[in-house]
Amino acid sequence: MALWGGRFATGPDESVAKLSRSVHFDWRLAPYDIRVNIAHVAGLKRAGYLSEGDAAKITAALKELSVEVLTGDFTYNDSDEDVHSAIERGLIEKLGELGGAFRAGRSRNDLVVTDFKLYLIDHLLQISLEVAQLAQVIDDAAKAQIDLLAPGFTHLQHAQPILFSHELAKHSHALLRDLDRLKDWQSRNSISPIGAGALAGSALVPNPEITAAELGFGGVARNSIDVVSDRDFVAEALFDLAMIAVHLSRIGEEFTIWNTQEFGWVTLDDAFSTGSSIMPQKKNPDIAELARGKAGRLIGNLTAMMTTLKGLAFAYNRDLQEDKEPVFDSIEQLLVLIPAVRGMIATATFNRDRISSQIETGHSLATEVADFLVRSGTPFATAHEISGRAVALAQSLDCDVHELSDEQLATVHPSLTGELRASLSAKAAVESRTSISGTSTKSVTTQLAQLDEKIRTFTAYIDGEQKRFSGMMSA
Ligand code: ARG
Repeated sequence: MALWGGRFATGPDESVAKLSRSVHFDWRLAPYDIRVNIAHVAGLKRAGYLSEGDAAKITAALKELSVEVLTGDFTYNDSDEDVHSAIERGLIEKLGELGGAFRAGRSRNDLVVTDFKLYLIDHLLQISLEVAQLAQVIDDAAKAQIDLLAPGFTHLQHAQPILFSHELAKHSHALLRDLDRLKDWQSRNSISPIGAGALAGSALVPNPEITAAELGFGGVARNSIDVVSDRDFVAEALFDLAMIAVHLSRIGEEFTIWNTQEFGWVTLDDAFSTGSSIMPQKKNPDIAELARGKAGRLIGNLTAMMTTLKGLAFAYNRDLQEDKEPVFDSIEQLLVLIPAVRGMIATATFNRDRISSQIETGHSLATEVADFLVRSGTPFATAHEISGRAVALAQSLDCDVHELSDEQLATVHPSLTGELRASLSAKAAVESRTSISGTSTKSVTTQLAQLDEKIRTFTAYIDGEQKRFSGMMSA
């Protein structure tokens, strides 16, 4: 059903109807559209534009429709342009002419933004919960490996020894930033567009604040032109989602490398690996690779939205209909991807012997030599130079720097005394890094407990918001 037509001599050409149509994707907004309409009907009743009885009839029909949408008994048909027209058709089918009464005082321009905001509030909470659970799985894996030493890398070269748990937990820290961003999104974007009308405001609904509160929004927009054309909240959401995908891509890359025969650090569970159609022996880390690959697609969705918005005229333009598919795609991709990544990590076996077998190779204790000299009063630049000479000597003797004898070290510089020996182990190197973000067992144990606590706090927040949201939806 079209929501316009009075001034047209003919209906749209078939090609136009096809181009214009969005119902096959914006149908996802149906439950939110119905809820916004229920709140709007209450507003029209308060303002005296709908009688008590008519408002009750329309509300009851909308509630019926909402159940039918859920069960699939009501859905869109070939004549519906978008979700808003399909819902209105459903209402007219139930109520006749009265079904068209609820549209007074608002436009699809403010309606679609309101629906879309509710969709996003709902789905970003779902994504947040998935992310929190992933952060917890990684945190748990880190706790289980708290005693395991590993070589730490920069430039993919051995750099300094670290705790393997420190290596794992870094991903949880990144995911917590994602959770923080999503929470921040909620607090900034909880503003209701209802009352903006097409662009100039509504002459028929004097109290949009009440409607906003009923829909759980924190406030009402203050510029009707801005709010019908603002899609910052969409771009922001797409960025937050793309950032999560980028974090997952880095996890994916790491697990792909760790899973190579050359590394052999991790063995993925059969249920979280895939085979080859030609090489029977193959067991591939496809989940990790898909985690790496999906990021491109989510970045593309963000780029598409930003490009649509750039230089766009005010207020509503049909270009804005392009805002939805990228969001649906980014959300739906992550809702499939995150559980798989979580399962991959939860069931992975970390091969402890392989991980700790090379902690002291690649001269990874050279910084300990320099730090030892600094502790005995040598300026760091000089200490760095002397340690570099010790590395050169070790290289010429085909050994690692910690394998030089006390005598050989003393030939490099007299300050390199036998006392250095106590610092020349991976364990000593790790345990000396007691700074707040450092890799010592003490630091990492505190960091992991803090992660636990933060994840608990986020989970409680998400749970509270989800309850509040579903309470609003079913009211
Ligand atoms: N389907 C449209 C969209 O998603 C709804 C708003 C249409 N508004 C209009 N003035 N044509 O943007």
